[in-house]
Amino acid sequence: MIVPMAATPEIRIVNDPSALAETAAQEVLEVARAAVAARGRFTVALAGGSTPRETYRRLAQPPLAAQMPWDRTVLFFGDERGVPPDHADSNYGMAHAALLSRVPIPPDRVFRIPGERADPDAVAAEYARTMAEVLGVRRGEVPRLDLILLGLGVDGHTASLFPGSPVLKETFRTVAAVHAAAASIPQRFTLTYPILNAAACVIYLVSGAEKAKVVKAALGDRSSGLPAAMVSPVDGRLLWILDRAAASLLPSSRRAS
Ligand code: 6PG
Repeated sequence: MIVPMAATPEIRIVNDPSALAETAAQEVLEVARAAVAARGRFTVALAGGSTPRETYRRLAQPPLAAQMPWDRTVLFFGDERGVPPDHADSNYGMAHAALLSRVPIPPDRVFRIPGERADPDAVAAEYARTMAEVLGVRRGEVPRLDLILLGLGVDGHTASLFPGSPVLKETFRTVAAVHAAAASIPQRFTLTYPILNAAACVIYLVSGAEKAKVVKAALGDRSSGLPAAMVSPVDGRLLWILDRAAASLLPSSRRAS
């Protein structure tokens, strides 16, 4: 197994889910402002699941909503389920309700993964092409996003990179259609390690005591092979924002925050 050169993860431990949302939203703002100052735009891939919802809501409310450079933001998704956007399990649907419907981000700068379409492999290939075009990279080059937000499943999955999946070995494609038998919606679409590990900044948002064991495993032993442990930006920042419950099994040396 090739264990990527580890970006030393920064670990930020906060009291509770509300503090996690506030801290995460502030981090997003800082990364966005720096990206716009440096490159004139902010490119980001959102996480799905439920943890990020409150972070998205904070970004859609004062004071952060007015500070975010929405007109310079280009927004993608780290993964999606094989459902229409109005489905209860749609990651796009969650982000749209919590954030996208509430802020002035130009609609043509929001790139949804059309998970409901019939041909999953074509959806993945087209999304990869769209990302490359929009981000201005040549064929075969891997786009470098300013920020990718990720969550962590209790089995160590992240985005829709699940344990044992062949997509964990992907070294070329940036987007893949996967069949995740263990997942609530088995048909999934996910960014792969090539693009995750090319990012300028990856931020994990993890909350709750039920994640404590997998947080310890993912942060404690990079060669654990857990999908989340293999995310390590080669030339970028890796930040884990945990609430106390999720961090409760980390050795005290890792909990100094
Ligand atoms: C998905 C997510 C997934 C999520 C984790 C954690 O589409 O399911 O992208 O990777 O981040 O499952 O989900 P919770 O935040 O709901 O615990």
